[in-house]
Amino acid sequence: METTTIRNTNWRYVQKGKGPAIVLVHGFPLDHRIWLEQIDALAEHFRVIAVDLKGFGMSLSTEAFTIDSMADELAEFIRIVGAAPCTLAGLSMGGYVSLSLAARHPDVLKGLVIVCSKSEADTPQGRQGRQAMAETAQKHGAKPVADAMMPRMFCENTLRNRPELVKRLRDIMENCPPATIANACFAMRDRADRTPDLPKLKMPVMVILGEKDAIIPASMGQQMVQGCQRGEFVLIPGAGHLATMEEPAAVNSAIARFAASV
Ligand code: MLT
Repeated sequence: METTTIRNTNWRYVQKGKGPAIVLVHGFPLDHRIWLEQIDALAEHFRVIAVDLKGFGMSLSTEAFTIDSMADELAEFIRIVGAAPCTLAGLSMGGYVSLSLAARHPDVLKGLVIVCSKSEADTPQGRQGRQAMAETAQKHGAKPVADAMMPRMFCENTLRNRPELVKRLRDIMENCPPATIANACFAMRDRADRTPDLPKLKMPVMVILGEKDAIIPASMGQQMVQGCQRGEFVLIPGAGHLATMEEPAAVNSAIARFAASV
């Protein structure tokens, strides 16, 4: 992995290929390894950068953050590695960060891909759940968080028939530092509703959702792109929340087509 320092923290990332830049941002409580299938395939035509956000994966930090502060640091990262303006693809929590970045640092983007994510903020009930999950991580570590999340990360078919994907995801989740889990829960709990920003985004936006996603309902896709000036919705049949791992060919071809067009 390569390293660059942003505000005293080492941000680690994987980089492959040459051409227009695509930056890939993982969800919670995950790291760049949810994009392994995209890194290899997209690197045939693009410069692909898959980053571990501050505190996640190999980018070690226990510092608290907000979705907006993470977006500011990600914009800085994109500039420092010479990837601006890029296509930015963010999955789930990575999508929250990417939407914040698009609203506040549009100059670093050519196009925005929101993968298995949404523009809305947490509901009051969701906010309570974040608090409980943060406390679980602080008291008992990452394992019970991984146990609670696993049934909702993949669709039923993947959970039953693809043990290698389940194992990879479990390893990633169980290795997420408990302090980062708590910091991210608080950041997601307190994030702004980005729906009012969608009509103001000037760059093209693609929304990719898994048909069987138990966390982000597929029905949100149409709604989100209707709010954008230049939006396109792609539904991935047979995929749950981790569409990048479950149906990589369909996700890769959507991202490649979009990145080639912006
Ligand atoms: C993620 O995959 O990043 C999380 O499930 C997002 C969330 O809990 O809102």
